[in-house]
Amino acid sequence: MEAPFIRHRNLRKTSAMRDLVRETKFSLDDLIYPMFVKETGETTEIPSMPGIYQYNLSDFEKEIQKVQALGIQAVLLFGIPAQKDAIGSGAFSENGIIQQAIRLTKERCPQLIVIADTCLCEYTDHGHCGVLHGAEVDNDASLEILKKTAISQAASGADMIAPSNAMDGFVYAIRQGLDEAGFQHVPIMSYAIKYASSFYGPFRDAAGSAPQFGDRKTYQMDPANRKEALREMQSDVAEGADLLIVKPGLAFLDIVRDVRNQSLLPIVCYNVSGEYSMVKAAAQKGWINEAQIIYETIIGMKRAGADLIITYFAKQIAQERQKEE
Ligand code: PBG
Repeated sequence: MEAPFIRHRNLRKTSAMRDLVRETKFSLDDLIYPMFVKETGETTEIPSMPGIYQYNLSDFEKEIQKVQALGIQAVLLFGIPAQKDAIGSGAFSENGIIQQAIRLTKERCPQLIVIADTCLCEYTDHGHCGVLHGAEVDNDASLEILKKTAISQAASGADMIAPSNAMDGFVYAIRQGLDEAGFQHVPIMSYAIKYASSFYGPFRDAAGSAPQFGDRKTYQMDPANRKEALREMQSDVAEGADLLIVKPGLAFLDIVRDVRNQSLLPIVCYNVSGEYSMVKAAAQKGWINEAQIIYETIIGMKRAGADLIITYFAKQIAQERQKEE
C-alpha cells in the first residue's frame, strides 16, 4: 500500500480556521493570582520578580480591588510578618498579617475567592516549614501548629486553605481541625505533589522564607521521582483533599499529566516564581516575545491536564485581555 498523503496544513490555513480547531483554551477563571502582604514597612517591588510586590496593608487594599476589577476570580495570599519565632506563631495569631489581609479582602471584595497559603516558613526564624526538634523538622508537632493556622485562616474568612508545608498527614490534620472548629464548608487545595526545587528561589526572597540551615529535601520530593508523586497523590486524596497541586510547573508537566490521568479531582499547576523570573529576565533583555511565551506556558500547563493554574502572570494576562476587548 502506498503511503497516504495527508494535508495537515488545510486546518492551519487562516486564523479563523486555527481558532476553530484549537483543542486547548484557557480563561481568566482558570487562573489564581498569588500576592504577598507585609505587616510593616513600605510596599516594595521584589527585585527578582519585576511587577510583583510585597504590599503593605493599605496598598494591598487598593490592589485587590484592581485585581478584582480586572476579572481575576481568585487570589492566593502569603503573609510576611514583622516578627518571626521558632514555632511561627505569627502564622496563627488572630491579628497576624495574613488574618488581617484575609479579613480586608473579604470586606472589600466579597466575591473574590481568597485562598490562604498554610505554611510556617514565612513565620519561623529558622525558615523551615515546620517546627524543629534539634536540627530535624518534627512532623507531628508541626501538624498541630498547621492545624491551628488553618483554623485561624478559615475564621478570618478564607474561602479555601492551601497547605504547602509538605508534612506527612497535613491534609488529614487540617481537615479534622477545620471540621471540629465548624469550618466543614472550607475546601483544601493541597500542595499534594511538591518537589524540592530551585525554581522556588525568587519566592524565598519574596516571602523572606529561605531556610537558615539545610534544605527542604527531607519533606519536599526528589525531582527525579515519578511513582512517588502518585503515592503522594493517593494519600492526599485519601485524607480528604479537594484539589491537588503539582509544583513546580514547567519541568514537571509529565507529572501533571500522570495525576490528571489518575485522579478525578481538579488539578492545579503552580507556575512558580523561578519560572516567572526567567521569562521576565529574558524579556527585559529583548531575547523573547514575552506575551507569546506566557501564552505557551499557560496553554502547555492546560494541555498537560491542569484545570487551574497559579501564576504571577495572572494580572498581566488580565490586563492584556482587557486591552483586546
Ligand atoms: C511555602 C511555599 C513555597 C512556595 C509556595 N509556598 C516555597 C518553598 O517551599 O520553599 C513556592 C512558590 C514559588 O516559588 O512561586 N512553603
